[in-house]
Amino acid sequence: MDYDIKDINLSEAGKNRMDWAFKSMPVLDLIQKRFKKEQPLKGKTIGACLHVTTETANLAVTLKQGGADVYLCASNPLSTQDDVAAALVKYYDIPVYAIKGEDRDTYYKHLNSVLDKNPQITMDDGADLVSLLHSDRKDMVKNIMGSTEETTTGVIRLKSMEKDNVLLFPVIAVNDANTKHLFDNRYGTGQSTLDGIIRATNRLIAGSVFVVSGYGWCGKGLADRAKGMGANVVVTEVDPLMALEAVMDGFRVMPMAEAAKIGDFFCTVSGDMHVLRKEHFEVMKDGAIVANSGHFDVEIDVKGLKEIAVKQTDIREYVREYELPKGNRVYLLAEGRLVNLSAAEGHPSAVMDMSFANQALSAEYIINNADKLENKVYSVPKDIDNNIAKLKLESLNVDIDTLTAEQEKYLSSWTVGT
Ligand code: ADE
Repeated sequence: MDYDIKDINLSEAGKNRMDWAFKSMPVLDLIQKRFKKEQPLKGKTIGACLHVTTETANLAVTLKQGGADVYLCASNPLSTQDDVAAALVKYYDIPVYAIKGEDRDTYYKHLNSVLDKNPQITMDDGADLVSLLHSDRKDMVKNIMGSTEETTTGVIRLKSMEKDNVLLFPVIAVNDANTKHLFDNRYGTGQSTLDGIIRATNRLIAGSVFVVSGYGWCGKGLADRAKGMGANVVVTEVDPLMALEAVMDGFRVMPMAEAAKIGDFFCTVSGDMHVLRKEHFEVMKDGAIVANSGHFDVEIDVKGLKEIAVKQTDIREYVREYELPKGNRVYLLAEGRLVNLSAAEGHPSAVMDMSFANQALSAEYIINNADKLENKVYSVPKDIDNNIAKLKLESLNVDIDTLTAEQEKYLSSWTVGT
């Protein structure tokens, strides 16, 4: 079998961690059991470009149990868990092309290795496979039935492709499912980002000024969890509605030019570029810790930071010190890449359970509806989304009420008034 991973001897540790993660993925487990019986993906080739984690590995196994040939590469050069990559190859015969810390050329070589396998369905976290299919690898588009997209940043890119009429196949925006972004983006990013910052620095959050840049679902989750750990949270925003939401949620909101002077921790989750730049680093307190948890490593102007630094030192894994001309030192975590997946293990399995249930069921949906789908960005169908919520509640042993006949009638009638 053709693959490119760090070390096959890491496979046992990877398998143990995959099994541990799967215990918190009951919805994916149910789908895996049904897929095994019904074989809805039989004969299809799926090329996935996702963070190579224990949770992704369990998704890959589910797709394979459903009858697909699965090929996996990384959606970020720093997020790969090498033991998991080894376990997929050794125990599940799933070819993986991913090595933690791979350079840009290797990263793209790995994406191309997956596309070389002629996938009919692709799965992206950040739209890199789709981008390649619309540029250097247009030759492979004729095979594609459809694609799925995991993250907000990817969906934004795809929607602008749809708007410009350049999208060459249908895409399901998994991120837009309620059972994805309300849980993964909020609780997943909230917890895993703090986990990454804490593992990298071992610094105390309580009593610190923690600046969160961007108040989308990821920013909301991060601000909430940082507050829960005793931080004094400051939010920066460009969108008036989201800024107002942050104010009413009890956070201080101010421009970055002001926040830069008072923050102990900074974390970008805005989805935009150069949210933190030279003029901000220059006024930061000595010892400020700077991290990013947005999809791409563009949110912090790392090049600008390097330009103004008079000295750079690696302090500990994932922590690089930049000494600035006035003597203040800024500590950049994980080179400005996703801190939650670089310095920690990404979102906990219990939220990825729902995200990846959406991925698996969206792949099945593409196959069952290929003749009806146009070259557009589609939401995950409501019945799939709602069913995932129902199954997750069942797995948590939570019962809820059902509408009485009288209530159902009331909700569908327009004649009952004051
Ligand atoms: N994105 C964020 N957390 C993740 C995880 N644990 N696995 C895969 N993708 C992720």
